[in-house]
Amino acid sequence: MDTTIRKVDKEEAWELRHKVMWPHKDFDYIKLEDDATAIHFGLFKQDTLISVISLFIDHEEGQFRKFATVQHEQGKGYGSALLNYVLREAKHYGIKRIWCNARENKVNFYKKFGLRETKSSFIKEGKSYVIMEKDL
Ligand SMILES: CC(C)(COP(=O)(O)OP(=O)(O)OC[C@H]1O[C@@H](n2cnc3c(N)ncnc32)[C@H](O)[C@@H]1OP(=O)(O)O)[C@@H](O)C(=O)NCCC(=O)NCCS
Repeated sequence: MDTTIRKVDKEEAWELRHKVMWPHKDFDYIKLEDDATAIHFGLFKQDTLISVISLFIDHEEGQFRKFATVQHEQGKGYGSALLNYVLREAKHYGIKRIWCNARENKVNFYKKFGLRETKSSFIKEGKSYVIMEKDL
């Protein structure tokens, strides 16, 4: 498969984020203040961006957020390839612990990457989340 993974600009990440995660909200809804300093990664299939994930670094901790694969390409392994890449890459930034707010229906997915559930969970906009983490 002709795919590449590379850093992308926040604007590229925003487009996919909006399309996949909150298509019915205003475009500005998907922007995060910290996006300016985050590192955004994208997976391209034949030059088309189909999956994005953003990494927010705070000293030795890294949070990944806004992981999204365009609907018609989900379930084909692209997201896994991108997440594996980011987990490997995180080490190069000196990150020792990586974590995320996992939507409840994604917990088993993240377990495949060695993330474990913490005791912290919360509900936001009617959706349940659990914090998951992994030592690198
Ligand atoms: C979460 C998300 C980014 C995953 O991206 P993806 O490209 O679909 O990821 P993958 O294809 O690698 O994995 C998805 C599933 O397909 C399976 N899979 C992986 N490779 C596969 C392949 N070659 N063939 C069939 N299935 C495959 C995975 O095991 C996984 O199964 P699971 O969900 O039962 O654990 C995507 O589902 C998405 O954008 N969801 C909407 C937004 C969202 O929920 N974001 C995460 C918030 S925590």
